[in-house]
Amino acid sequence: MTSPENIKVVHLRQNDSLKDAIEIRRQVFVVGMDIPEHIERDGLDSIADHFLIMRGQDPVGTVRLRRIDKCTLKLERCAVLSNFHRQGIGTLLVRSCIAFANKFAISNIVLNSQMSAVKFYETFGFTSVGDTFIEADIEHVKMILVCNKTTNKIS
Ligand SMILES: CC(C)(COP(=O)(O)OP(=O)(O)OC[C@H]1O[C@@H](n2cnc3c(N)ncnc32)[C@H](O)[C@@H]1OP(=O)(O)O)[C@@H](O)C(=O)NCCC(=O)NCCS
Repeated sequence: MTSPENIKVVHLRQNDSLKDAIEIRRQVFVVGMDIPEHIERDGLDSIADHFLIMRGQDPVGTVRLRRIDKCTLKLERCAVLSNFHRQGIGTLLVRSCIAFANKFAISNIVLNSQMSAVKFYETFGFTSVGDTFIEADIEHVKMILVCNKTTNKIS
């Protein structure tokens, strides 16, 4: 998928290099939020699908999707480099995840959202469930999207 602004979504599969995605995550979570590297690199990358957003030659955002059970994907590590916030890149990442889920007839996408990102995920129809909890010293809440092929397609 490409847009007029020279933005490209790359679906990284299991044998593709994750170098660019992991560097974005390091910048955003480890450097930007002080999350310990051993928590950020949790050993689960190899069993996930990853999306990378390229703007021209520059990798600017990433997300991963991990299958939790037959019907459910977990959206994790959604990160956009700070210089590129509020330009629609996060939206493209989440929409790519939703399109992927719809393609494989997945019923639900779940995620643990930092409180600061709840409004962002709500724009796609995710809703909060349950109490808040602490993960990596940061307050989170579980959110869920019930996938609906008719309303969540990438335009
Ligand atoms: C959350 C994040 C991925 C959003 O990426 P982004 O590219 O800035 O998002 P978009 O430009 O697509 O934003 C789309 C809409 O989401 C909402 N939104 C995005 N960031 C928001 C914020 N910090 N606070 C409130 N609303 C926000 C807005 O409605 C925005 O639309 P607008 O710019 O027209 O108002 C990005 O801020 C980020 O990487 N944050 C640090 C890492 C992080 O918190 N990841 C989530 C872990 S749970």
